[in-house]
Amino acid sequence: MHKWILTWILPTLLYRSYFYIIFLVGTISLACNDMTPEQMATNVNCSSPERHTRSYDYMEGGDVRVRRLFCRTQWYMRIDKQGKIKGTREANNNYSILEIRTVAVGVVAIKGVESEYFLAMNKSGKLYGKKVCNEDCNFIELIEENHYNTYASAKWTNKGKEMFVTLNRKGVPMKGKKTKKEHKASHFLPFAIS
Ligand SMILES: *[C@@H]1O[C@H](CO)[C@@H](O)[C@H](O)[C@H]1NC(C)=O
Ligand SMILES: *[C@@H]1O[C@H](CO)[C@@H](O)[C@H](O)[C@H]1NC(C)=O
Ligand SMILES: *[C@@H]1O[C@H](CO)[C@@H](O)[C@H](O)[C@H]1NC(C)=O
Repeated sequence: MHKWILTWILPTLLYRSYFYIIFLVGTISLACNDMTPEQMATNVNCSSPERHTRSYDYMEGGDVRVRRLFCRTQWYMRIDKQGKIKGTREANNNYSILEIRTVAVGVVAIKGVESEYFLAMNKSGKLYGKKVCNEDCNFIELIEENHYNTYASAKWTNKGKEMFVTLNRKGVPMKGKKTKKEHKASHFLPFAIS
């Protein structure tokens, strides 16, 4: 008699807790969907796995990444001995080795490892190299939907419109005021140094 009850009751109990767990999981994910963006930001468990892998990749090697910035116009960003900013086609040119340092959330400073000049943009939107970093050297780094990164001056805008780091078809930086987020010239892939 006892045996019979146990074998009958146990599966039922398990079955019930199974539904209970499903119910719990359901309410948790519902709770996540109902959250405001502010809450989402603090609740890490609600973000998608993709975001997680992304942010790990981003933080690789602490808050400093050594990369080559390859523009969608097929030029590598290069900062030469004189601090001049220009593109190069050479994949191994050592003036294109850049240190990308996170200085605030979403804000980076980019330094040429060989030349020791920082990438900078002045108020007029002119890209130049700067030995001592100031606010001209701060750029907002964004991963765009097409998986390319854009870099907009964190300090200067053109009447409220962002000014981007670019390399045009000839490998020359454009005037900041003429740049747009949508331009191929503003799109960069950060390549790890092999
Ligand atoms: C997220 O999940 C982990 C375990 O996976 C847990 O330790 C942590 O408390 C959870 N955080 C939040 C904010 O729910
Ligand atoms: C950069 O290139 C120059 C000339 O090709 C070479 O002398 C120098 O050692 C290189 N520097 C690095 C860090 O690879
Ligand atoms: C920005 O740099 C360019 C080129 O060096 C210069 O002509 C211009 O006056 C500078 N603008 C400002 C606001 O410093």
